[in-house]
Amino acid sequence: MGYDGCCYPYAMSIFNFEPITGRIHMPPPIHQQFQSKNFVVCSFVPRMYDYHPQAIPAPYHHSNIDSDELLYYVDGDFMSRNNIQQGQITLHPGGIPHGPHPGAIERSIGKKETNELAVMIDPFNPVMITDEAMAIEVKDYYKSWQQKNKNLVTQ
Ligand SMILES: [Fe+2]
Repeated sequence: MGYDGCCYPYAMSIFNFEPITGRIHMPPPIHQQFQSKNFVVCSFVPRMYDYHPQAIPAPYHHSNIDSDELLYYVDGDFMSRNNIQQGQITLHPGGIPHGPHPGAIERSIGKKETNELAVMIDPFNPVMITDEAMAIEVKDYYKSWQQKNKNLVTQ
């Protein structure tokens, strides 16, 4: 979507956001919708997956060195996660390695598209966590990458 007449749009429907797709896995900035001095907003929207015959659509494991990663799962099936429900929010502090859950990479092979809808905020300063947020924390979320706990929270 292009902008007309204003360099600083302040409102744009997520349903008008069209990320670049490609034969092989595109880098994370294709999802970036807004950028500010202290954070970026990325939108994960329905799109075609990588279409090379040997492409692996699942994202790769990574560690953000410049930001935390706050991800709100709005709707759809979140291919890279085994136990995330609509409405949940995950927080991956900067520097903590994370990526697809066990089996998610294999599950993604051959998939053509996703209907996921999620919004991610990457703040360049650490997120301050409220008492209210701590009260609803999934205490063993960090264990969800262990194969034996892949159905830990829901299913
Ligand atoms: Fe991440």
